Amino acid sequence: MPDIGFLNGRFMPLNDVTISVEDRGFQFGDGVYEVIRTYSGMPFQLEAHVERLQRSARAIELDIPDQKEWIEWVAQGVGRAGYGECKVYLQVTRGHAPRDHAFPKNIPPTIMMSVREMRPLDAAISRSGIAAITMEDLRWSRCDIKSINLLPNVLARQRAVEAGAFEAVLVRQGIVTEGSVSNVMIVRGARVVTAPEGPQILSGVTRRMVLDLATANGIAVEERAFSRDELLQAEEVFLTGTTVEVLPVVRVDGAPVGHGRPGSMTERLSALFKGAVA
Ligand code: PDD
Repeated sequence: MPDIGFLNGRFMPLNDVTISVEDRGFQFGDGVYEVIRTYSGMPFQLEAHVERLQRSARAIELDIPDQKEWIEWVAQGVGRAGYGECKVYLQVTRGHAPRDHAFPKNIPPTIMMSVREMRPLDAAISRSGIAAITMEDLRWSRCDIKSINLLPNVLARQRAVEAGAFEAVLVRQGIVTEGSVSNVMIVRGARVVTAPEGPQILSGVTRRMVLDLATANGIAVEERAFSRDELLQAEEVFLTGTTVEVLPVVRVDGAPVGHGRPGSMTERLSALFKGAVA
């Protein structure tokens, strides 16, 4: 089976999915999304992702199908695709209507899903760690909504790639918020520190899991604001996210993090995460 598409209740080959040029997602970025991956054909943390989709939709006053339906569609999509490792993308927009900023009346949402084969990050990169740059966080003040408006994230990631780095760590008035596609954690004095949940970050599903695993294994966790200076002085830095899992950061803005190699806490949390996945 090729990559799978799904539009408003119907499955089809991904290449056959078409939407109106007047879709509000296309014209206004008026929609929300999720990215879920599978391990050996099993959607990972599916309920948590669907719950966050519901929260995002509620926050933009968009009525979407209930949790049960999403879970069924994802299961069917993954089954049809047949890949062990899939990347499932869910997107809902406020439907299509003649262009006007205010909500159109009585328009059904556009419900779209794609299921593609997932190419996990090269294991060698996950082991050796990646470089990151820091950048001003230019996003809006509701980053907890997983909105399809990703222009600042797109520009930040592009800046990172052009600098030969993997991720851009976003900084708002001196305080680290998160990455362009991941949450950011540091290790200081054997404690794992990460920005608290709130409107300035996406409440990452992987973030929650890693913090819970840390706590359950006796590792101290602090959910508090930390500055760019603390990031630069951290003993260890790592990213968490659906696509990156637990990924060591070994350089920030050209300078080594700690000894310039993945640290023991990051390696421990990565192993705990892999264990939980298995
Ligand atoms: N993004 N922060 C941002 C800004 C993100 O875009 C993501 C994930 C995360 C990590 O969240 P989670 O652990 O729930 O995947 C944090 C997805 C993968 C994306 O946009 O492709």
